[in-house]
Amino acid sequence: MMRSLLFVPGDSPRKMEKAADSGADALILDLEDSVSLSRKTEAREMVAQFVANADRAFPAPRIVVRVNALDTGLTDDDLAAVIKARPDAVLLPKAGSGADIQDLGARIAVEEAEAGLDEGTVLIHALMTETAGGLLQAGTFAGKSQRLSALAWGAEDLAADIGATANKDASGRYTDVFRMARSLTLLAAAQSGVEAVDTVFTDFRNMEDLKKECDAAVRDGFSGKMAIHPDQVAVINAAFTPAPEDLERAIKILALFAAAGPDAGVLSLDGKMIDKPHLRQAERIARRAGLDPAALPEMDEADRV
Ligand code: COA
Ligand code: MG
Repeated sequence: MMRSLLFVPGDSPRKMEKAADSGADALILDLEDSVSLSRKTEAREMVAQFVANADRAFPAPRIVVRVNALDTGLTDDDLAAVIKARPDAVLLPKAGSGADIQDLGARIAVEEAEAGLDEGTVLIHALMTETAGGLLQAGTFAGKSQRLSALAWGAEDLAADIGATANKDASGRYTDVFRMARSLTLLAAAQSGVEAVDTVFTDFRNMEDLKKECDAAVRDGFSGKMAIHPDQVAVINAAFTPAPEDLERAIKILALFAAAGPDAGVLSLDGKMIDKPHLRQAERIARRAGLDPAALPEMDEADRV
């Protein structure tokens, strides 16, 4: 599970080095909007070199590369430069529908073959709400590619696409279209069985409101949040790490269901009814704590927490 995903401009080796030590669960090395058109070629080379040399052993951060959107004519050169360095995933911005995921998957497969990598090595993450069209196609992302492993939402590009002058109201709350984008991302991720990733919080010195946004994201079902500054990582990681009492309860629920066997229906814990939705919730909490829910009930009591 990725709690924090830190964006890093792909033309800044200094920031890429700093990001590697930030504590983020994943780095998103950006070839898109944070890199000017005149620096794309240079950035591709810098990113490829960084990925090739990066420490990949757990718990080093996972490496994601954000390529340019499919309609820019830049995507193939991005992929040709970076896939051979074997990033964990490619993040597609401005994804318009599930067909775009298939399209990107086919292009990645070509580069994997060239590089002698197994087909499917490189996963896909997608920003699915950056255009009006992507939002309206939210239901088409599921079941199109085995590579799809995370769906994220973005508010800045969507504002530009629909002509909104702001995405938040005077009280700092996202306005309706952006709340809908956020909700559709949660639904599409659940439908696809992939991680739901909350959007960036751009006011990077304001930790108090970042924490509030993280807490709301955890409550609503997001598994992680994107960051733009290393100082945001610790706040995000803390918010998306389950509290010890929640993890303890999740482990109890997993153990109860494991003991009851595959035909378990309704059970009780501490005087409260628990059933299948509680089991799924417990599995999510265990995964968020970095534990394998299937292995947990067999683990020794002492090794669990
Ligand atoms: N990754 C790695 N290091 C970063 C970083 C990031 N995203 N953002 C800042 N840093 C580094 C800076 O280089 C600086 O290190 P240094 O003093 O050793 O050079 C240190 O952290 C403190 O940075 P600070 O001065 O607080 O911020 P800044 O004004 O240098 O940078 C931004 C502000 C917004 C330009 C920068 O945070 C950034 O580039 N963010 C990512 C932008 C991005 O990728 N956007 C695309 C997705 S929305
Ligand atoms: Mg953008």
